[in-house]
Amino acid sequence: MRLRRDAAKLSPRVARSYYLPVAQRRPQPNRNKSGALAWISDTVRRRGLFGALRHYAAAAVELLRDLTPARRQSRYGDIDYDFEHNVDSTWATVSLRTRLRELLSGGQYQPSEPELFHEILNSLPVAVDGFTFIDLGSGKGRTLLMASEYPFRKIVGVELIAELHRAAEENIRLYRSATQRCSQIEAVCADACEFVLPATPLVLYLFHPLPEVGLQRVLRNLERSLEQSPRPGWIVYHNPAMDSILGASRALVRAGGTEQYSVFKNL
Ligand SMILES: C[S@@+](CC[C@H](N)C(=O)[O-])C[C@H]1O[C@@H](n2cnc3c(N)ncnc32)[C@H](O)[C@@H]1O
Repeated sequence: MRLRRDAAKLSPRVARSYYLPVAQRRPQPNRNKSGALAWISDTVRRRGLFGALRHYAAAAVELLRDLTPARRQSRYGDIDYDFEHNVDSTWATVSLRTRLRELLSGGQYQPSEPELFHEILNSLPVAVDGFTFIDLGSGKGRTLLMASEYPFRKIVGVELIAELHRAAEENIRLYRSATQRCSQIEAVCADACEFVLPATPLVLYLFHPLPEVGLQRVLRNLERSLEQSPRPGWIVYHNPAMDSILGASRALVRAGGTEQYSVFKNL
């Protein structure tokens, strides 16, 4: 069984609604809200009240469909990594309670696919020794484990949902690999929009975790941090649904990518 390659290959209806092009959105997001509230307010702003209700109703139907045996089985399609490494990073075992929470916050957990993750990291034209790898929206922490196969100075995952964060902590504890090159791995349960970036060279990994408002807040934090402590910063945006937000930053320049991901670096 092969796993789904990216979130855009979720159910077409969810994917369509989840990744509404930025060009279709209205300006003036509410910058003071975070988490589920930010997502809901962003959804209402973009779609109007009735559009938002329709969106949530469709997402709820998808959620119910996901409970059918066939769907549940297909979600196990990403489990090869877990068997190989004796961890639990699949999205198949995420509880209904957490899935409901995800429905409101909008950022559904799906782990990065290993082959693509390594393709992305190997495409970075820098030696990552001395860099900190940060996954904003780290879920059950699969990327943290995969990143530990590279000589990062430190690896940090920031996850909003407590159940996913706890799974990440357990996975870090369980993970064993003869080829592991970084053992400084930390999982933090926090809102990515409020996370203070360390003043080290960075590889910032985003697998479409945030709504537009959230991504803009992260971008402003990043710009401020890079201005205060100039250093190399590489941003990997997997499933780059709101690519143009990063592309519009005067602090960043596009440095690579494919349809599945974008890479930016600071100027
Ligand atoms: C598509 S998953 C990616 C998981 C992981 N980065 C990976 O690639 O395997 C997005 C994750 O972002 C999390 N998330 C959504 N909003 C967040 C926020 N404001 N702060 C931190 N995490 C958030 C979701 O709970 C979800 O686990």
